[in-house]
Amino acid sequence: MGTLYVEDCRVTLARPELKYNLVITSPAEYSELGMEAGDPAWAEFMAGVFEKVNPSSGVIVVVQTDRKYGGVIYQKSATLTGIMARFGWRLSSQRIWVKTHNVWLYRLGYTFILTYKRGKALDLNPRAPDVVELPFCNHQGAWMNGFPPELIRPLIERHSLPGMTVYDPFAGVGNTLIAAENCGRIGIGSEIDPKTAAKYQPGILTELMNDGGFDNRRGDEGDGSDNGSDSPVSPDRVSPEDGDEPD
Ligand SMILES: C[S@@+](CC[C@H](N)C(=O)[O-])C[C@H]1O[C@@H](n2cnc3c(N)ncnc32)[C@H](O)[C@@H]1O
Repeated sequence: MGTLYVEDCRVTLARPELKYNLVITSPAEYSELGMEAGDPAWAEFMAGVFEKVNPSSGVIVVVQTDRKYGGVIYQKSATLTGIMARFGWRLSSQRIWVKTHNVWLYRLGYTFILTYKRGKALDLNPRAPDVVELPFCNHQGAWMNGFPPELIRPLIERHSLPGMTVYDPFAGVGNTLIAAENCGRIGIGSEIDPKTAAKYQPGILTELMNDGGFDNRRGDEGDGSDNGSDSPVSPDRVSPEDGDEPD
């Protein structure tokens, strides 16, 4: 079972007991930091986090959705790559996760999977494909605000060995921890929002996968929550944020 620290990741990163081999994360969106789209303070905040991140494998994987707002694309992925370069992290692969359903994840149909390396980095599958497609799932609202463990598990297996520890500084509902548990790694995360962190349920995906199914079951059954934007939802209940129109 993983460890989810319910606190600011900058506090976790200062903990002397924190040891980790690999980092996989999806950084907080502007709105999650109380900022307007495009606010330069976002980059300052991320620099303050990533300057402290130091996995022993020499690999950080960032799942990063750019933000489309008011007809403008804010390239958080490019901003982040500049920040990482400041701390000696080179971009070694830029893969694309294509949304196979019409999900309004910041109004873009794709997300970047950015792999940064420093020093002698562990990479067990350098020929992994550049484009990733997954069947729709809504485990823990994974396609709303986060990513599904199925996306993360191959990345964990590519950059770590069984028994190693994977840390997610922006852990959300704990999908990185679940993916780590599912392939014999140890998951550690930080999540600042206690309501979000409370949704982390170690082992739940293992049960569903072993049972041969992993799709809409949790959403169909409901989880007793208020169906807020971070609740499991079916694709046809997803609506655009902020009333912005696609183009
Ligand atoms: C894009 S979501 C991550 C979703 C996650 N990958 C998942 O699948 O559930 C970013 C998360 O970072 C959290 N967050 C924002 N600021 C934080 C901070 N300073 N420290 C830790 N978590 C933070 C937000 O509450 C949000 O849950």
